[in-house]
Order: sequence, then C-alpha cells, then structure tokens
Amino acid sequence: MRVVLGVGGGIAAYKAAEVARLAIQNGMSVQCVMTAGAREFVQPLTFATLTGQKVITDLFSSQSPEATLASAVEHIGVAQENDVLLVAPATANVLARFAHGIADDFLSTLYLAFTGPVVLAPAMNNNMWAHPATQANVATLRSRGHRFVEPGEGFLACGTTGPGRLAEPAQIVEALLEVQRVRQDWQGETVLVTAGPTQEPIDPVRFLSNRSSGRMGYALAQAAAQRGAKVVLISGPVALHAPAGVERIAVRTAEEMRAAVLARLAEASVVIQCAAVADYRVAQPSERKIKKSDAAFTLAMEPTPDILAELGRIKGHRLLVGFAAETGDLEKEALRKLESKNCDVMVGNLVGEGMGFDSGENEVLLMFRGGEVVNLPRASKTVIAAQILDRLAPLRAAHPAYGR
Ligand code: C5P
Repeated sequence: MRVVLGVGGGIAAYKAAEVARLAIQNGMSVQCVMTAGAREFVQPLTFATLTGQKVITDLFSSQSPEATLASAVEHIGVAQENDVLLVAPATANVLARFAHGIADDFLSTLYLAFTGPVVLAPAMNNNMWAHPATQANVATLRSRGHRFVEPGEGFLACGTTGPGRLAEPAQIVEALLEVQRVRQDWQGETVLVTAGPTQEPIDPVRFLSNRSSGRMGYALAQAAAQRGAKVVLISGPVALHAPAGVERIAVRTAEEMRAAVLARLAEASVVIQCAAVADYRVAQPSERKIKKSDAAFTLAMEPTPDILAELGRIKGHRLLVGFAAETGDLEKEALRKLESKNCDVMVGNLVGEGMGFDSGENEVLLMFRGGEVVNLPRASKTVIAAQILDRLAPLRAAHPAYGR
C-alpha cells in the first residue's frame, strides 16, 4: 500500500520518523510531505533517508519555469499515485485548514485533491485539543469519513498534562493496516507469481544463475495478497522472507519451476511470470565435482523449457503477464515477446545502472495486447508493483469468464 505521510509542525514531528519506519517494515511505501512548521522541528533528510523517497516540502519548490509548472501540479500526481493519506502529527492548524478547505501549502492542497482514505493522528496542547474550534473541526472531518487515531493522555512538551499526546507509532500504523484490510480490490482472484532466478547445476557444487534478487516478484505477490487475492508464489533461491498471507513454493531449476507452475495453473485466474528463468542449462551436469586442471574445457548447453511460452499456449481465459528484462531496444523486444509468447501484458524493463536486477528500484514499460503502452517512471518496487496491479484491474474486469 502506498502511503502519503503528511507531517505537521509540532514537537511530535520527530515521532513521525518512527511511524514511517514501521509502515515500511509492514510492506508499505511512504511518500513524505512536510509542512513549513514541521521543517522547523525535523530535517527533511531524516524522512528522505528512512523512506528512500524525495520529501515534498513546498507547493512551488523551484525557480525555473518548467520546474515550477511541474511542481504546481505535483500534488495532483501525488494524490493519484497513493492509496492513503496519513497526517501525523496533525496539528490544530492542519485540522482547521483541512476542515475548511483552505489550500495554502502542499499538504492542504494535496488533501483537497486526494480521493482515498484519510487517517489523522492529532497532537497538540491539551487546551488546544479541547477547544471548541478544534473539536468542531474534528467533528467535520469525522463526518467526511476520515479516521482519527486519538491522542493519548500524558505529559506534554509544553509542560502540562492531559490529552494531546500523539498516539504511539504502532497504533498509528495499526490504523493504516486497518485501511489496508478494507481495500480488497483483488479479492476473488488467485494469482500465481514466479520470482527470483533459477539455478542450473554444472556439478554437485556449482551452478549457472543470474543477478535477480526476486524483489519485483515478491513485491507483486505481497501487493496482490494485501489487496485480497489468494497468492501462490513460486520462487527461485532468494534471500527474502515470504510475504504474509502468501503460499511460497521453493524451486531451484527452470524444470522445477515449470513443474510447480503447471501443478498450480488450474486454480489460477492471473499468472505473473516475473522470474528470471535461465534460458540455457548444462546438457549433462557432472555427477561428481569437476576437478581443476590447467586445460580449458567447454560445457555443452541446451535450452531450458520456456515456461511463459508454454503458458501462452494453454492459458485459456487466464490473464498472462510476462516480464522482459533488456539491455537495449526495450519497446521492440518487449513487443516481440508479448506476441510470440501470447501474453496479455508484457512488463519491459531496462537492466543495469542500479535498476531492474538486484535493485530496490525499477522503471518499467507496460505493453498491452491491444497496443497500449504505459511508462511507469522510476520508483521503488513496492510502488511499481501497486501500479502494475492498478493497471491490470480494468483487464480483469474485461475478462469476465477468465479462469473461473
Ligand atoms: O525470452 P525471455 O527469456 O527474455 O523472456 C522473458 C520472460 O519469459 C519472463 O517473463 C520469464 O519469466 C519468461 N521465461 C520463461 N521460461 C524461460 C525463460 C523465460 O518462462 N525458460
């Protein structure tokens, strides 16, 4: 789930760093927006480091005309690309501006442009919290369906004691998880995802493999499960934990991956073939460890089964998504694979330069069977995974009979 974390200007702003960290630990991506007041308490760098994303601080953040134009509509983009708006701490001022629709900085403008669920975690002096003006604003915001994480009682930074303390970060993240549980737009689907590399043996101790980390496939599996799908993740050897609620089947070779995919295909309505399957394997792996010698030697190779191409032939009404990792000619190669492997969507990405393989970030091109091409600009794999699922949604609706 993609979270915009708005940080208001109160002393509790430092606690928002812990909220960001916990949300990320729970598999969410966090885009931070700081008000001018918040920046008096905490440096944007703290949040940029924790979230791995640029922190948004101003409505008009740059001097050049093009950059000003881009930043003038940035709040619309941020509003569209995220699933939930959380403000922690929500100061009396933020609550008042939200309640009255005053849009005089990035956060309050974003609030008006945002159509998803809103979670507010207020923090302020106890008298400010109890003031009828604040309470009226809270009532207005509640009437719009916004969720409040109530402030706790305790010692306040201003030296008094009473209600007004920001709720504990764990409670705030629990409210986000609750929103996530409600957002179940992939319910009813069974998604088969393959991920990671394969390892093709040379002898009992050596193998041929590739740099795939499995992160893109795991992010897709996690996002689909969080959105209500039943997910079977068929994974090559990677150093990742299985996401919560996902059934993982561990495989090693392309042949094992093929067998696992075919065994679970019947129940799938969507297949996402994200694994970096080896294209070749050693024709006859040695049964004993190959001894070192000074002489050069040649390994005879043979092609592995092309799992995706086979799925393309037998997919029926299932939605079939392939991946094409390329070092050049991305559009041409992805289109060729889309057609030759009979997929509904091909996700193309360039590999190298800290992207694609063995990296936390990706930038992809989605090529649809109907000819549509969509570019998803560079972002974390969690964000890219959510965007891919968003883009597949209309195709699922247009395939009423598939897989069921
Ligand atoms: O042809 P190429 O290997 O570049 O195509 C990539 C796509 O095909 C990926 O979705 C990958 O998972 C799949 N593939 C496969 N079986 C192979 C090789 C690739 O399913 N043996």
